[in-house]
Amino acid sequence: MEYEDYYKKYIKIFEDYVSKYNKEDALIEKKRTHSYRVALHAAKIAESLNLEQEQIDIAYICGLFHDIGRFEQAKQSHTYDDRYFQDHGDYGAKVLEDELIKYITEDERIQKIIILATKYHNKFEIGKVNEEEELYCKIVRDADKLDIMEYQVNEIDGVYPLDEEVVGNILNHKLCRNGIVRNKLDHLLRMMCFLFDMHYDYSFKYIIDNGIIDKKFEVMKNHSTEDTTEIINCIKEYISGK
Ligand SMILES: [Fe+2]
Repeated sequence: MEYEDYYKKYIKIFEDYVSKYNKEDALIEKKRTHSYRVALHAAKIAESLNLEQEQIDIAYICGLFHDIGRFEQAKQSHTYDDRYFQDHGDYGAKVLEDELIKYITEDERIQKIIILATKYHNKFEIGKVNEEEELYCKIVRDADKLDIMEYQVNEIDGVYPLDEEVVGNILNHKLCRNGIVRNKLDHLLRMMCFLFDMHYDYSFKYIIDNGIIDKKFEVMKNHSTEDTTEIINCIKEYISGK
């Protein structure tokens, strides 16, 4: 693969780290493959913005390492619920600082970018960063959300009522906080709110071209006790304005 060969130095650092964990564990393998897809999305977003090759490379590296905290989390808590571990973005930033970053690059400016993109990839909002750091935080957040939307919650068991607070967030074009998710339908609705924190044309185009949002609408319609027309129209209108 073209990307694998070009980025082999970073992939080796990533794989050496992941090899300390049990590859037979589905949780580990899930995040390993997710990391590669997010890295590729991040590089493609950077390309779509006509950034320089060095910037595309930084975006790829940020994407590859953004979930590095997940592997220890899987080992220790056997779940990806941060309530049973700690914030995995913060933990990932610590893994980079303590162990990996010195092998990735000696450039302190780039080291800081990669650490901050990891730290803030999963936060409700990006913390205090400079303009350059913010660019990579935003790229990784879009790339991560794209992959989550494509691969997660495409099937649900059961039928659930719509949660007023989550629906309110959708109608007001706001991200949902994690804490308000109580069932699988809430999880799906929260995921659709990711659209309201996506920044780049590449992301919207990818979501539309790959039928990702239509699939989510279908699941929502089939697993809600209530009519979802207002939600669907609201999201369609938002996307068409992008
Ligand atoms: Fe993550």
